[in-house]
Amino acid sequence: MSGFDRVWLALREPVDILARDAGLLAAAAQSLESVSAPTVLDIGCGTGSTFRALSPRLGKPAHFRLFDHDHRLLDEARRWHGDTVDLIQGDLNDIGALPLAEVSLVTASALFDLCSEQFIRRFVAHVMQRGASLYAALNYDGRMRWSKPHPLDEAVLASFNAHQLSDKGFGYSLGPQAWETLADCLRENGYTVRTAESPWTMAADHRELQRLFLDGVVRAVYEYGQLDESEIRDWADFRRKMVDREGSLCQVGHQDILAIR
Ligand SMILES: C[S@@+](CC[C@H](N)C(=O)[O-])C[C@H]1O[C@@H](n2cnc3c(N)ncnc32)[C@H](O)[C@@H]1O
Repeated sequence: MSGFDRVWLALREPVDILARDAGLLAAAAQSLESVSAPTVLDIGCGTGSTFRALSPRLGKPAHFRLFDHDHRLLDEARRWHGDTVDLIQGDLNDIGALPLAEVSLVTASALFDLCSEQFIRRFVAHVMQRGASLYAALNYDGRMRWSKPHPLDEAVLASFNAHQLSDKGFGYSLGPQAWETLADCLRENGYTVRTAESPWTMAADHRELQRLFLDGVVRAVYEYGQLDESEIRDWADFRRKMVDREGSLCQVGHQDILAIR
C-alpha cells in the first residue's frame, strides 16, 4: 500500500483532535481506571497521534505500545516521545503476532476505513479472545460537504467513495462502510459498543491541509476513471481557487467507536 506522509499526518492532527468525540475519548480513558497497571496498544499509530490525544486524559499512568509497519513514521514517533513509549514495527495482517499481552485497551485512528471485512472479522475475533477493549476513532463515513457547492460535488464524491473500496493493504477495503461493520461485529462478539460522529472540519485557515486533501481526492477520482478528465479539472480548479483565494469550509464525516466488554 502507499505510505502515509508524516507532513500530511502532522497537518491533520489539530483537525483530528477537534473532531474526536470528547465523550468517547473520555470514556476510553475512564475504561482504564479500574486496571492496576494499564497497557494500551495503538495499532497503525503513525507518529503517535492517538497517544497524544489519549494520554493527557488518563487518570493514571499507562504503558503505551505504538505499532506500525512504516519505520519512517515510527522514527518520527521516537523523535517526539523517545523511550516513553514502546515502538514496534510489524504488519497488522499478521494478527496473531500483535503484542497483545497485558493489553487492556487497543486504540486506532484513521485506520479501519482502510480495512476489508475479512480483516475486521479476524481482528475482532483475536482482540475479543484476549478481552481487550477497543477505541477506534476517525473512521471515514463517506460524507463530504463544502461551504460553496459545485454541480459536480456529488459525482466526485461517488467516485472518491468507490475508489476507497480498493485494496489498501488489507484486502478489498470496506471504506465508508467499515465503521458500521466493525461496530456490528464487535456487538456480535459480546462487546458493548458506543459510536459517535467525529466530523473533520477544515476551515479557511487550514489551507495546506485542504490543498493536500484535494490533491488526494482528485488523484482518486482520476484513478477511478468514471468522470471525464475535463470535468475533474473544472471541479479541481474551482475547489483549489476556493481554498487559495476565497476560503471555503470543508466537512468530512467520520465516526468514532468505543467497545467495552
Ligand atoms: C491514516 S494513517 C493514521 C495514522 C495515525 N493513527 C493517525 O491518526 O495519525 C494509517 C496508519 O496505518 C499504518 N498501516 C497501514 N497498513 C498497515 C499494516 N498493514 N500494518 C501496520 N500498520 C499499517 C500506516 O503506516 C499509517 O501510519
